[in-house]
Amino acid sequence: MKKTWWKESIVYEIYPRSFNDSDNDGVGDLRGITEKLDYLKSLGVNVLWLAPVYASPNDDNGYDISDYRAIMPEFGTMADFDCLLSEAHKRSLKVMMDLVVNHTSDEHAWFQESRSSRDSLKRDYYIWRDPVDGHAPTNWGSAFGGSAWEWDEKTEQYYLHCFSKKQPDLNWDNPKVREEVYSLMRFWLDKGIDGFRMDVINMISKPGTFTDGPAGTGQYCDAGYMVTNGPQLHAYLQEMNREVLSRYDIMTVGECGGTDPEGARLIAGTDRGELNMIFQFEHVNLDGNETDKWAHKPMDLALLKKNLARWQEELHGTAWNSIYFNNHDQPRAVSRLGDNTPQSAKAIATALYLMEGTPYLYQGEELGMTNYPFRGIGDYHDIESIGAYRQLTESGLREPEELLDAIAYKSRDNARTPMQWDKTANAGFTGGTPWMPVNPNYPAVNAASEEADPDSVLNYYRKLLRLRTVSPYKDLLVYGSFRLLLADDPAVFAYLRTDGDRTALVAVNLSREARELSFSEIPEEIINGLSGAQPVLTNGGGQGFAERMTLAPWEAACWIAG
Ligand code: GLC
Repeated sequence: MKKTWWKESIVYEIYPRSFNDSDNDGVGDLRGITEKLDYLKSLGVNVLWLAPVYASPNDDNGYDISDYRAIMPEFGTMADFDCLLSEAHKRSLKVMMDLVVNHTSDEHAWFQESRSSRDSLKRDYYIWRDPVDGHAPTNWGSAFGGSAWEWDEKTEQYYLHCFSKKQPDLNWDNPKVREEVYSLMRFWLDKGIDGFRMDVINMISKPGTFTDGPAGTGQYCDAGYMVTNGPQLHAYLQEMNREVLSRYDIMTVGECGGTDPEGARLIAGTDRGELNMIFQFEHVNLDGNETDKWAHKPMDLALLKKNLARWQEELHGTAWNSIYFNNHDQPRAVSRLGDNTPQSAKAIATALYLMEGTPYLYQGEELGMTNYPFRGIGDYHDIESIGAYRQLTESGLREPEELLDAIAYKSRDNARTPMQWDKTANAGFTGGTPWMPVNPNYPAVNAASEEADPDSVLNYYRKLLRLRTVSPYKDLLVYGSFRLLLADDPAVFAYLRTDGDRTALVAVNLSREARELSFSEIPEEIINGLSGAQPVLTNGGGQGFAERMTLAPWEAACWIAG
């Protein structure tokens, strides 16, 4: 397998709005990030992914961009960005930007011009359609509630928006749109950034004809489902690669909901000339159902393990995985798979980040930050949560109380509360009034206290990440093949990583009960090699490996032979 820096990297996602506020306006900013670079360096990550920092009216917190070449004033200036980039580079930290080009803001100059008249030179930058029988062209619904078509009074046509009506979809079939995108990409790459995380990139190629789809929850068919993996997707990504990506030594990851391993091999296959890797969603959708994120059911660990194992096996040697459970769109894994305790946070991280693929951490995860105790719908800021509540309760599809429980469990706002730096007011995030309340558990869960505690989640993450980046086991843990063990065990996640003559065995008890294990399925020579080995990493008592052993609640360990 070809070795590259982005396979050996560890990425840390920063949600700038909630990371660190340097000017006390209650909103995080670029200088705030620069102030924390030494902290990030000491954690052991080496790539920072910034959620969007461009000019935006913030209908969807920056995922609605009004100027791709300007910084959002709340976050600072271009000079602040340049300073962040150079300070990061001085510390050998790379910076990856969010590229949101499936849609723009409706306040972007292109859309303003496009909507000004049917004859506008930019009319065809977006997707405009006539009404059909007096209503919207199709039954497509937007991700944030309501129809995916918005009527424009002035020019008497509808425009498509798979997300909010303030996020009109670009028309990638127009070569001028593609050239505009490549040009803005070059603008940032020429500044020296190190890669792009590409927002909903597998939605850019729309189908040739627009037809009604199967109704999902309520009257609409999810527009995202109808436009995912469209006919020209690979042609456009290959063109982007030829025109832009291949000319720089950068890292790319495409956000690709609705993509299976076969699809991943097309987008991120080693010889495809498209992207380096994708974010897939199968594993984070297992506690919902295919059409309804808010259908709340407990995560079935046996299913989750098999799903992750399938991705490990199917991509090994042919494409590259990303591994994540947290980001700005997901509730906190420690509240979802764990029980909010530090011990469960360490267990989840061990299970996840010793698999094959590039790890993506999300801010606060390394502290064990948990979901927020949301109560009423008035507590939420997120357009998705608010839109879902409105649509599902107004249509009578869900009872408010029960839906609120599901939203509290799954809302993206769980990830967006301010970063917990210390015990002072507002967890040290701001000296002003934070744009979102701080989780009340900050006096116990915060970076300063954890820095001082050798057993903290933070210090465990440091050890874990270093195993992958600077230890003698680095190549084994980055490039070794994967084999799932104890596949049907509903509580223990265990696997082998192997490269030539070395083997790592990872075993994690993801439950509150002690579990007895027997590794009799492993070939004898591997058992013999591992027997008696002391763990290279553990959150438990440090027991030597044995074919039969007992793992305490949330105990995690990795043993290596050879
Ligand atoms: C992606 C982003 C999400 C955003 C959506 C629309 O899924 O991660 O935060 O709302 O795209 O841009």
